[in-house]
Amino acid sequence: MCGIFGFIGKRAAAPLLVEGLRRLEYRGYDSSGIVVKNGDLQVYKKVGKVSELSSILPNHIEGYSGIAHTRWATHGEVNDVNAHPHLNDKADIAIVHNGIIDNARDIRKRLEKKGYLLKSETDSETLAHMITIGMDSGQTPIEAVRQTLKRLTGTWGLCVLFKDYEQIICARNGSPLLIGKGDGESFVSSDPHALSHHTQNIFFLEDGDLAIIDRDGVEITRLEGGVSDTSMTVVEDEWEEADISGYPHFMLKEIHEQPEALRRCITGRLDKANGGAKLGGLKLEPVRLRTAPHVRLIGCGTALNACKIGQLAIESLARIPAVAHVASEFRYNDPVINPNAIHFAVSQSGETADTISAVKEIHLKGGEVHGIVNVVGSTIARLCGQGVYIHSGPEQAVASTKAFTNMVASLLLFSIRIGRTRSFSRERGRSLIDNFQNIPSQMEEYLSNPGPIEEAVELVKHAKSVLFLGRGLSAPVASEGALKLMEVAYIPCLAYPAGEMKHGPIALLEKDSPVIVIAPNDKHREKTVSSMHECKARGAKIILIHEDGDPISEEADVAISIPKCDPLLTPLLSVVPTQLIAYQTALELGCDVDRPRNLAKSVTVE
Ligand code: M6R
Repeated sequence: MCGIFGFIGKRAAAPLLVEGLRRLEYRGYDSSGIVVKNGDLQVYKKVGKVSELSSILPNHIEGYSGIAHTRWATHGEVNDVNAHPHLNDKADIAIVHNGIIDNARDIRKRLEKKGYLLKSETDSETLAHMITIGMDSGQTPIEAVRQTLKRLTGTWGLCVLFKDYEQIICARNGSPLLIGKGDGESFVSSDPHALSHHTQNIFFLEDGDLAIIDRDGVEITRLEGGVSDTSMTVVEDEWEEADISGYPHFMLKEIHEQPEALRRCITGRLDKANGGAKLGGLKLEPVRLRTAPHVRLIGCGTALNACKIGQLAIESLARIPAVAHVASEFRYNDPVINPNAIHFAVSQSGETADTISAVKEIHLKGGEVHGIVNVVGSTIARLCGQGVYIHSGPEQAVASTKAFTNMVASLLLFSIRIGRTRSFSRERGRSLIDNFQNIPSQMEEYLSNPGPIEEAVELVKHAKSVLFLGRGLSAPVASEGALKLMEVAYIPCLAYPAGEMKHGPIALLEKDSPVIVIAPNDKHREKTVSSMHECKARGAKIILIHEDGDPISEEADVAISIPKCDPLLTPLLSVVPTQLIAYQTALELGCDVDRPRNLAKSVTVE
């Protein structure tokens, strides 16, 4: 989704801005632009990739400060004019903005009445004109920005550059913004990945913060006045920049990184002696775990699929009601919150607007929320103030893979932790932990010999639609497989609990319809095999994901075997072939694997 990068210092700004935009590319966008202060404010913007913006830039642009933006259209079509930065009429103020100004329509009308000529269809451009009105009436830049923001409803991550002032003003409300402090230079970005190689000294702005940055310092105040509490954090953990390390795509690299990422996630957290799990960041005493009335898990997309696995594992191991919720629905359904319940917000980016809203709804109603998050210091991590970092490392492909497996692993660890407190024995816990420790090497084993993925791709790549089936823990794995294939290869996919298939989706099946069946050797296997037979009887082609040595492989058109493991842990292995099928299909169809159309890595608007 939209990205912001800014720089002020003693180095040439333009190359740094373009490089910052490149590091934001993975988030998904449709156009980009930069403005550099070089006497005047020089603006360059272009629809398409950052490389297309680069192609229209002069070889050398003077100037030591500037701001830049990647746009994911919300107001107004995708064109050069609507791309950011936006200038005021006098071209002495430039803004870049992430988020949505809800009352922009009224503001536009008022500005037009006053004679302002708005050039774009965006909500954002209004801000440049409003700041101008404030400054024309004698306000300082910071005061003009403050008074402008006070008149807005909506969300913003905002940067303002002035022709006549050596500073950038930044503000945050609902859209992430970070300031990085280097030696004689300062940076601003909406995403830590764009700052990581410049500095580790970071100010994570909070909602309602307003900052002035210049070469030498950062001054942060609150929108309503007074100094902000936001202080500098030195960020080390997970802070490295991801490079593609010889892989053709980040998605493939991240699929192959899963064993190592999983090791990072579980190391130090498996408590072999007690048959339990240690999750220090949770701050949940045994008495809380014992007396909690229920567990709620909230997420979107891939995180939601991980929540569904968490729900089943927690109920099964701890005998406590658990339910997974679609984050975008949560607060609008006016949920009843029990302050004694345990709530989890699950998110790779920690910046998903729908999930953030759900966290705020729970807080408002007196509940506590624990984050299960990848990006250290992200909004959800900070809002929750407690939780589990999943330690996947930077995930750059829009399609989430290694974050999924580590979210699932973290939730399984929690289910072991709460299960040991409430219900199951040390022996069962120990056996699970033994199995858990083996999963990273079993993943490696599978990835070194992934089976007939190409044959599966042949069946799938020209299909009108693909049906994914699984039962129990494999039902959410089916959903995750379907989501992945849909988002990277643009093939309509349906995922169903296998038993539900005969109640509707079976109508879709015709000769050669591909059906991907996930059937590990658990208590659901027999029933899943019956559903598979029902599909075969209608002429469907079966791609079966099964455990090594299982004779049901003979009944499949394409059989992909995964290593045997404890039934509770199977999602960690069975999802991997579905990721490879999605990747390989997208590749065969010539799709942009890492940056699928219309999608964004982190969805920061509701
Ligand atoms: O950053 P989050 O985990 O909160 O993101 C949630 C979804 O937007 C995300 O999982 C999305 O569905 C991915 N593109 C799936 O691959």
